[in-house]
Amino acid sequence: MTAPLQSIVAKSLTGRFTVHNLWEAADKDALLADIGGRVRGIAAGSAVDAALIDRLPALEIIASFGVGYDKIDAAHAAKKGVLVTNTPDVLSDEVADLTLGLLLSTVRQLPQADRYLRAGHWLEKPYPLTATLAGRKVGILGLGRIGKAIARRCEAFNLPVAYHGRRPQADVTYQYFDSLVGLAKAVDVLIVVIPGGNETDKIVNAEVLAALGSNGILINVARGSVVDEKALIKALADGTILSAGLDVFEKEPQVPAELVAMDHIVLLPHVGSATHHTRDAMGQLVVDNLVSWFDGKGPVTPVVETPWPRKC
Ligand code: 8YV
Repeated sequence: MTAPLQSIVAKSLTGRFTVHNLWEAADKDALLADIGGRVRGIAAGSAVDAALIDRLPALEIIASFGVGYDKIDAAHAAKKGVLVTNTPDVLSDEVADLTLGLLLSTVRQLPQADRYLRAGHWLEKPYPLTATLAGRKVGILGLGRIGKAIARRCEAFNLPVAYHGRRPQADVTYQYFDSLVGLAKAVDVLIVVIPGGNETDKIVNAEVLAALGSNGILINVARGSVVDEKALIKALADGTILSAGLDVFEKEPQVPAELVAMDHIVLLPHVGSATHHTRDAMGQLVVDNLVSWFDGKGPVTPVVETPWPRKC
C-alpha cells in the first residue's frame, strides 16, 4: 500500500496477502530496495509514477482508489504489462448528489447565508436576495457515468441539459456540442466532470469562461487541472462570470488566496465522494480487484489503457 486507505482495505488485504505500508517506512528507498522485487500488487491511495513501476519488476496490478486515475502512470503500466484498475460506479450517485448540492449552494449562497446568521447579521436585516436556478441551462463537460447521474438530477430540477465530450453519445437525448466554447455560449451553468490528465489540462480557459458569460456559474467536481485557475480567478474578479462552486483545485490541498478571499463563491475541500458509505465501497472495490486478479479471475474494473482480456 502506498498510502493509508479505508480501514476495510488493510483489514481485508492483511489476511490474504503480505502487506507492506510504503508510507510508514522511514526510508522508502531502503524498503523498495528490500522488497521491490517481490511486490506483485499495489493498493494505490496515492500517485504511482513510472519510476515506482520500474522499481517493481514483479508487479502485475495497480488497484487505484478513486475513479480518476490521473496520478497513476497507466500508459507506462500498459507498456510494462501491468494492469491498472480504478473504482468507478460505486461513487457516481454520491458525487452527483454533491454536485447538485454545490450548484444550489453556489446559486443560492447557502454557506454565505449560514455565516450571515451565525454572525448575528439577521438581527439587523434580512439576507440579501440571490441569483436563481430557475430558467438556467446546464452544460456538462464530460458525460460519463457521473455526468449522466448529474444530468438525471438536473432533469428533476427542470434544468435543460447539454454536453460536450469527445463524441456524441447514443444513449442520451441531451443536446451535444462538438466544441466546449459552443457549449459554454449556450448555457449559464457549466459543470466540469471530465477526467484530469494531459488531454484535458486547462481546457476550461479564459475563452470558455468569457463564453459562459456574466450570469455564468462554473461548477468543478472533476480535477483542478481541467480549469485554468489563474483565468478563473480573473473571470471571477472582473465579473466575466457570476460565480463558481469548486470541489477541486490545481495544487490540493493548497487553494489560491485570491479564491479564499472571494466571498461570493463556494469552496469545498475535495469531498465529492467523501462519505463513510461510498469511501468503504471504493475501498472494497480496490480489494475486490486485487483478490479477483490473484484468484486468477481477472480484474473487476480495469481502466481503458489496460483492457482485460488483454489486447495483443
Ligand atoms: C477521491 C476522486 O477523493 O474518485 C476520485 O477520482 O476524486 C475522489 O473520490 C480521490 O480519489 C482521492 O481519494
